[in-house]
Amino acid sequence: MTIEYTGEQLRATVADAVRAPSLHNTQPWRFRLVDGGIEVSVDPLRGLPATDPTGWGARIAAGAALFNLRLALAVAGTPATVRLRPYPADPDVVARLVPDLPRRPTPVEQSLYGAIRRRFSNRAPFWPDPVPAEARWRLGEAARAEQCWLELVIGTSAVNAVAEVARSAHRVLERDPAYVAERAEWIRSEPAPDGVPAGAGGPQSEPQDLLPQRGFGGRNRAPGRDFEPEPLVAVLGSAGNTSADQILAGQALQRVLLTATDAGLSVSMLSQPIEVPAAREALRMSLGRFGTPQMVMRIGYGQPGRATPRRPVEEVLDLPVVPA
Ligand SMILES: Cc1cc2nc3c(=O)[nH]c(=O)nc-3n(C[C@H](O)[C@H](O)[C@H](O)COP(=O)(O)O)c2cc1C
Repeated sequence: MTIEYTGEQLRATVADAVRAPSLHNTQPWRFRLVDGGIEVSVDPLRGLPATDPTGWGARIAAGAALFNLRLALAVAGTPATVRLRPYPADPDVVARLVPDLPRRPTPVEQSLYGAIRRRFSNRAPFWPDPVPAEARWRLGEAARAEQCWLELVIGTSAVNAVAEVARSAHRVLERDPAYVAERAEWIRSEPAPDGVPAGAGGPQSEPQDLLPQRGFGGRNRAPGRDFEPEPLVAVLGSAGNTSADQILAGQALQRVLLTATDAGLSVSMLSQPIEVPAAREALRMSLGRFGTPQMVMRIGYGQPGRATPRRPVEEVLDLPVVPA
């Protein structure tokens, strides 16, 4: 007997997949049922030509959605075998998932799944409390479990070096009118199913800030409400930088984010030093690592916040047409 996924299973699990993060909350993904398997694709109509000309960010987002989908299928007792980039002639398809033998979910799958709806990008200042060693170890393991690495940047001079690379990338991007205009198009002052709600954008950056926040039109800070003086800065990286490496990195990113959420930690992402090629190379050199940096994160204990909106599931599904 061959086992196949059904339209009902697709609908139910895609509702979890779309909770993944994406650049400017563009949600650049599609999901379809083909011959009893689920295919995850990048949606070329939701690209960001100025911010993400190579499609790196869309592949990271689709990889993160793929990780949520894997978890949702596993927790439903119908885990998947995943093939990345199954059709070389169709690079938009990032993965094909076919049913594996049914089994009960592991405790780790259950706790990561439980974190999907609680996770959100927290761009506000964190409490100064340090992240304990056990949580740091879990974050590194999460990246390794998805064939990537997580470098925790330790010590003032190492953090300053990464921050300087990030600030200079931020300055380069802010001088590009197309980048600035594209970001403005995705800031939402009214309720909307995509884009970054103004209230989620974090406070306006100030000259004394160590790390450059991408500006999403946030409010000015009250005096004394500075960012934590010693943030935990982490860089996620992959062995190479092919499309498949970027999809792997997206899955690893989501596993790290959900592991952090499960440990009671907040995270904000900074990808300016990844988007500027010279900065990405400087970042790699400052870490002294082989491989390719794929995301910079600030991790700590944050104030409670809210998940951002997503488009309805029906908008991202392609179901087979049933003959009348
Ligand atoms: C590839 C990628 C790059 C991102 N870069 C940044 C960034 O530089 N600054 C930032 O504040 N958020 C960044 N984000 C977070 C997104 O803005 C965020 O995921 C999206 O607005 C949805 O919100 P949520 O994470 O709260 O669900 C990035 C996310 C992804 C997947």
